Amino acid sequence: MSETTIRDLQWKYDEGEALTMLTAYDAPIARLVDRGGVDMILVGDSAGHNHLGYDGTLPVTMEDQLSNTAAVARAAEEALVIGDLPFLSYGTSLEKSVENAGRFLKEAGADAVKLETAPGGEATVEVVSRCTELGIPVQGHLGLTPQRMNQLGGAVIQGREGAESAAADELVETARALEAAGIFSLVLEGLTEAVAKRISEAVSVPTIGIGAGRHVDGQVLVITDVLGLGGEGYSLSKQYADLDGIIEDAVADYVEDVESGRFPARENTYEPIDEQ
Ligand code: KIV
Repeated sequence: MSETTIRDLQWKYDEGEALTMLTAYDAPIARLVDRGGVDMILVGDSAGHNHLGYDGTLPVTMEDQLSNTAAVARAAEEALVIGDLPFLSYGTSLEKSVENAGRFLKEAGADAVKLETAPGGEATVEVVSRCTELGIPVQGHLGLTPQRMNQLGGAVIQGREGAESAAADELVETARALEAAGIFSLVLEGLTEAVAKRISEAVSVPTIGIGAGRHVDGQVLVITDVLGLGGEGYSLSKQYADLDGIIEDAVADYVEDVESGRFPARENTYEPIDEQ
């Protein structure tokens, strides 16, 4: 279990401090993200395209997510580790949903889980309610929910009808239902700023935005976008490093060293004991 608890997050939120979350999918990156001081590490199903080489999030399996989450949980000492429930691992039956959510805590060492909810989504609200009753902390996720990409007709930004539209009303009602069911925080993805603000004001758990503007209580980004590491590039993300360039240069230098005979050199070889 990580040092950071959901009570710490609520306390920071109550004090008006911004919360930070980044994704990670493996131990080396999780260790660095943790040392960097984020509050939460999300082992997102965005691993699908950013880590596992799938086309998107839909093919990601429970076994993929449990394995990635376990690696991250082993590496993270401070940040709260959240395992993302993959497509159709929840919602088809209450029993299966709770069992799958529980596996993230029991088998992978996560501190909490996240799941996506459609506007008005009663089945997932019920899953949240049952999980939280049983001691599984849940982070909600509303807006442009990638697992519903086919239903939404692509990566369509939500809330464009306006902050006072019926669609916005339904998002607010769903956020309130998730809060009543016990979520400890709520990811708002791909929403107009005005709608994200309205939802944030309507609930008293922290909202964590990605492509949702400034009037939320914290931010999350996908680590590969942040690091410039072969990511797909979320359009409203911010890149803080160019690891693609660094890695390509390092590999090219290695190839040149081997081909030219510069590596291995004498100091890269093992000597018999008496020659040391
Ligand atoms: O899977 C993921 O990385 C996510 C974030 C974009 C919130 O759900």
